[in-house]
Amino acid sequence: MKIGIFGGSFDPIHNGHINLALSVIDMLTLNKLIIIPASSPPHKEISGLASKNDRFNMCSIVANCYDGMEVSCMEIKRGGKSYTIDTLKEIRSVYKDDEIYLILGSDMFFSIKDFKCSSEIFKMCTLCVVPRRAQETDCIREYASFLRNIGASVVVLDIAPIEISSTQVRERLKSNRDISKFLPGNVEQYIREKRLYGLGGEYLIKEYKSILSKLLDKNRYSHSIKVSEKAIYLAKKYGVDVRKAELAGLLHDITKQMPDKEHLIMFEKYNIKLSDIELKNKKLWHAISGALYIKNILKIDDEDIMNSVRYHTTGRENMSELEKIIFVADFISDDRVFNGVETIREIAEDNLDKAVAKGASITIVHLLEKNKLIDHNTLSAYNRYTSNFI
Ligand SMILES: [Fe+2]
Ligand SMILES: [Fe+2]
Repeated sequence: MKIGIFGGSFDPIHNGHINLALSVIDMLTLNKLIIIPASSPPHKEISGLASKNDRFNMCSIVANCYDGMEVSCMEIKRGGKSYTIDTLKEIRSVYKDDEIYLILGSDMFFSIKDFKCSSEIFKMCTLCVVPRRAQETDCIREYASFLRNIGASVVVLDIAPIEISSTQVRERLKSNRDISKFLPGNVEQYIREKRLYGLGGEYLIKEYKSILSKLLDKNRYSHSIKVSEKAIYLAKKYGVDVRKAELAGLLHDITKQMPDKEHLIMFEKYNIKLSDIELKNKKLWHAISGALYIKNILKIDDEDIMNSVRYHTTGRENMSELEKIIFVADFISDDRVFNGVETIREIAEDNLDKAVAKGASITIVHLLEKNKLIDHNTLSAYNRYTSNFI
């Protein structure tokens, strides 16, 4: 059998790799091409890369689509730096009498003489070099003759290279640019689902905005965006996690327009017992159900974000910095126009606790004027955060 081995970091595997793999299979009439993701790519200790398992999985997704392609985890299992000689020995132990072709990009090819046990490598396989750029071909042919003179068997393949690099793919993903020409759809889907390459933030926010736009009318949606923007502003000002603030601000009113009945079903489902005051004041429901929605339906596993939504209407005695930010941002977002909004905006520029106290007092006065009950959390927040300034 003719076996090709194609190593690399595949971080991620992209259309350039796939095109090359298919061309090599075709030109060398390979029976099998084994893709071997490296365990830890030498000289590439950069953060923001995918784990070896994810790289392996992405290669498997591709290999499953083509006859004669398979993926080996031998280098990943071996761990540490991947040396070609060790991989060749392992391959040879399985394919004792077969022809082995080692596929190399031009950069690897030019340094092959410096590889560990290079003369042994030359005896064990045929080097199969694929130019990365068209203008490299002459140099490659020259170096191939040199290697042949020292005992290597070399094939130079004339494949029109697709000039894609994994770095380029990662950058496009990160900046949310179209990637369809660079990656197969199923690999892109895997990357998005697993939030690889720093995709997390922006992609999630985009997704949540789309969910929110379906649950809220135009005004309420626009209010959520404005609270989110204010929350980002305050988070930067007071040194709080900006991404959490953005997300909590965006989602704080997520169940605001859910029918009463659905709120009650939700409370029952998640075993939430409302106090008498909460039962009588429906305006408090969306904060409680919003937190449940975020945790159980959106699966956001972050207690601080959840509590920021849970207490954005009432406040409470001991609030985290993020809770305070969402509570205050909901008061002073750019769409708010009530009497006194400018005062609390000014206070928020200066002191977050004081802004919480002011917010709680505005809520209490408003409820008193309307002859409504005051939730004990609002009173606790008022007392706790006002006492600092008396
Ligand atoms: Fe709200
Ligand atoms: Fe709100």
